[in-house]
Amino acid sequence: MNVITDPKALQAQCLTWRNEGLRIGLVPTMGYFHDGHLALMERARELCDKLVVSLFVNPAQFGENEDLDSYPHDMEGDSAKAEARGADVLFAPPAGAMYEPDHATWIEVPELGKHLCGAQRPVHFRGVCTVVAKLFMLAQPAVAVFGQKDWQQLAILKRMVRDLNIPVEIIGHEIVREADGLALSSRNAYLTQEERAAAPAIRKGLLELADRIRAGEDVAAAKRGLAENFAASLPMGEVDYIEIVDPERIVPVEEVDGPVLAAVAIRMGRARLIDNILIEV
Ligand code: PAF
Repeated sequence: MNVITDPKALQAQCLTWRNEGLRIGLVPTMGYFHDGHLALMERARELCDKLVVSLFVNPAQFGENEDLDSYPHDMEGDSAKAEARGADVLFAPPAGAMYEPDHATWIEVPELGKHLCGAQRPVHFRGVCTVVAKLFMLAQPAVAVFGQKDWQQLAILKRMVRDLNIPVEIIGHEIVREADGLALSSRNAYLTQEERAAAPAIRKGLLELADRIRAGEDVAAAKRGLAENFAASLPMGEVDYIEIVDPERIVPVEEVDGPVLAAVAIRMGRARLIDNILIEV
């Protein structure tokens, strides 16, 4: 595996591969790999000839008072894991290499960013879209794999690619979980022992809500039920949102007449955990 830190060197390498007719797969990440990241790499590896894994903690997607400076990292461990999953390139640019000091071009999909995490983190998806578009220009992948835990991100990136005619197939990979149901996240590292012990209640609550929706309970009552559930099962948690949305348009629904996505964000100490469930009625 080749570790590349210079964006131009990555672009030159990927152009050469494309000219040779090779199919490039990209897994964009911010590092501190867990089994969820590794599953994305394994999936991408099956779909391409050359696998590029990017590792860049993108400052543009962090708001003020978020965890940019303390985001966990382990370059050595990540490098070994990516290599073991068959990455051909680990692209790990230094912080300054991806944005010129006078960077002035941004990509936004505001229609899909009004609710869920977009409502709480105003610059987040603009930063995600911009860095992912830049990674697409550099790596020129035929396919890119993202996790469904960040469902809203996935929906926004699919729309960006469609609207801008970017020739990349976006694949969403199912959420990888701990045995007790907690969705894997690099930010789980922030949890205290007590918070970690309580955190599986997030998944349990979502499963219960899905049962209630399937049984015909109305959306408002199901959301209230989940809020009560979390108040009892996660007393140290602070709910950022509990929402039921159209899974593609990411707008809240009041009635269920097709598939819906139930999504939550909970703050627990230093961690902000998100999870979701697709409910097909
Ligand atoms: O999901 C993430 O880790 C990030 O948002 C991404 C897609 C790597 C862009 O920085």
